[in-house]
Amino acid sequence: MNLPDINIRRAVPDDVHKLAELYDLVWSREVHLLGEKLAAERRADIDTIRNWLEQDAYFVVEQKDCVVAALGCEQRHGTLHLVHLVTHPDYRRSGYGEALMRRAEQHAMEIGAVKLWFDTAPGLKAAQRLYEKLGYRMCGRLNRHYWGTDVILYEKVL
Ligand SMILES: CC(C)(COP(=O)(O)OP(=O)(O)OC[C@H]1O[C@@H](n2cnc3c(N)ncnc32)[C@H](O)[C@@H]1OP(=O)(O)O)[C@@H](O)C(=O)NCCC(=O)NCCS
Repeated sequence: MNLPDINIRRAVPDDVHKLAELYDLVWSREVHLLGEKLAAERRADIDTIRNWLEQDAYFVVEQKDCVVAALGCEQRHGTLHLVHLVTHPDYRRSGYGEALMRRAEQHAMEIGAVKLWFDTAPGLKAAQRLYEKLGYRMCGRLNRHYWGTDVILYEKVL
């Protein structure tokens, strides 16, 4: 698989503060779409993010010593569940989100996952355009799911 010419690396434990800053910045701007509780869960504290990094593969793009885009890949039951995709507002439409998604697909193939899947909130339209561009199929909706916020499910079977 050809990946765009963007420098993506695996996150390391030392990235925890940079990731916390990025998630705080991104999700504090989306409270109106996610609701208070879901946005707060996404703006996770340092210990929570440290646990994420210990358990799962996270990929990041760094610019000027800041993490400006990130994506987590949870390996579950032979599938890859993609989580916590964000791009810093100043770096959007530069191809970072797409490059991270493609890196996740490469990771899925490396570990022998049978599919990738993702949940998202209906208001996050840019994310949905991205998933559809990459061939993800909307495969369901969970009503009033996370603290009352609806969730849309996307999948791509490999
Ligand atoms: C969704 C998000 C990660 C996209 O990141 P990004 O780095 O800007 O995305 P890319 O530059 O790689 O865009 C790839 C494609 O996605 C689509 N896309 C991205 N942003 C878009 C927007 N604002 N409007 C319409 N389409 C968009 C386009 O198809 C784009 O391809 P193109 O530029 O060739 O038209 C970013 O907007 C973001 O962080 N949003 C807030 C957090 C979020 O919604 N995360 C998803 C959680 S489920």
